[in-house]
Amino acid sequence: RSTYDLVIAANRLPVDRVTADDGTVEIRRSPGGLVTAMESVMRDHDGAWVGWAGETGDAPEPFDDGGIHLHPVGLSAEDVAFYYEGFSNDTLWPIYHDVIVPASFHRDWWQAYQRVNQRFAEAVAALAAPGATVWVHDYQLQLVPAMLRRLRPDVRIGWFDHIPFPPVELFAQLPWRSQLLEGLLGADFLGFQRQADARNFVRACRQLLQARTKRDLVHVEGSSRTVRAAAIPISVDFKGLERLAKQPEVMARSAQIRESLGNPKVLMLGVDRLDYTKGIRHRLKAYEELLVEGRFSPPDVTLVQVATPSRERVGAYRTLRGEIEQTVGRINGEYSRIGAPAVHYLHHSYPREEMAALFQAADVMLVTPLRDGMNLVAKEYVTCRHDLGGALVLSEFTGAWHELHQAFACNPHDIEGLKQAMVRAVNTPAKDRQRIMQALRRRVSDHDVQRWAARYLAALRSAPDRPRLEQ
Ligand code: G6P
Repeated sequence: RSTYDLVIAANRLPVDRVTADDGTVEIRRSPGGLVTAMESVMRDHDGAWVGWAGETGDAPEPFDDGGIHLHPVGLSAEDVAFYYEGFSNDTLWPIYHDVIVPASFHRDWWQAYQRVNQRFAEAVAALAAPGATVWVHDYQLQLVPAMLRRLRPDVRIGWFDHIPFPPVELFAQLPWRSQLLEGLLGADFLGFQRQADARNFVRACRQLLQARTKRDLVHVEGSSRTVRAAAIPISVDFKGLERLAKQPEVMARSAQIRESLGNPKVLMLGVDRLDYTKGIRHRLKAYEELLVEGRFSPPDVTLVQVATPSRERVGAYRTLRGEIEQTVGRINGEYSRIGAPAVHYLHHSYPREEMAALFQAADVMLVTPLRDGMNLVAKEYVTCRHDLGGALVLSEFTGAWHELHQAFACNPHDIEGLKQAMVRAVNTPAKDRQRIMQALRRRVSDHDVQRWAARYLAALRSAPDRPRLEQ
């Protein structure tokens, strides 16, 4: 088969190919929420996935993994440095996450971004059947919708933003702001995590392109087209993950984890890509102060922090890793005992089974980002708590918080408030915690990833194909 009725394009394929020095190839699961969500959606659809396989050089041949057809796009070492590490993760990522670290602007990064987006558009154009649905993902591919429309005006094009869309005051800093908006307006429908993100996009079109807009519609200048921008928040495969978490091996592993940590009274857990948006430093600071004040004391309380390696060649990530590891070292130096560290710090990624076991073992899950499009870890945690145990501390600056109001909310910038939320999560009576967990689980199970994909595709198919602004 050479063409598909559904083609998705994302910077990464769901798996990375890693070639060892002796030429053997290992397939590893890619990090991040996008892959987690789309992998389960694509298993239910017979479509193709276009993306980068994680190694530099020529693209490997298309291959199948877990029943999904994967079509690699090749990135040279310069593409990786300029398009991926540079423009995507050192220009766009900081701007789209409230400039927690400063963004860098380089014209040769922008050149590479355009070049690679064109390559993705061409790969998709070659795979899409006549009238196919094409679903483009995330900030790395914002020019693909317009490029694809030029190549294939017959296909229906959607784009989904997995991360926040910034307020126009921040977006306006980008020297290529108009080109990015015009790239996105090549789509028929644009999906966002929160209403605020969709509104920010519409406002940016109005102010920076002088586009005519009405509610969630943007008129495309010089055409008869109108593009809709709406919030459709992403989720997790609730049934699949809950099933995994109920497996006897996973539950036994969870008990074993607690045992090997010395059966603490309170096990706190953080699970993040090692990223400055995740608020790991703020979390450690709050925890350290609680130890200093004697409100928490190991080995009764312990913290496990999983920090999955991420974007390790980008400067801000290297700096952050140094800071976190220094802080963990300081806390452990002061508060650990032999056989009982105050912080267990793990700079690894783990298989899904191990994560499900960790989630079940944790009394308090700390999700404290400074800014996060959604944060699927929060939804994964509640999905795994079929025993109704555990408590979720959740930052107000995540997309997830807009759905999971019952969680123990925090503003991670407010260290006193964060400490209070942590203490409250520990001290709330079990009965009340169970009631909260039940409400959180109901929300996620009613709004799972299958429902998200169905809503998104329905919105894309019914997107306006005639101008409707005047109606
Ligand atoms: C976030 C982004 C994804 C990205 C993932 C992992 O979830 O929204 O687009 O794939 O992080 O980051 P990486 O740079 O390793 O692909």
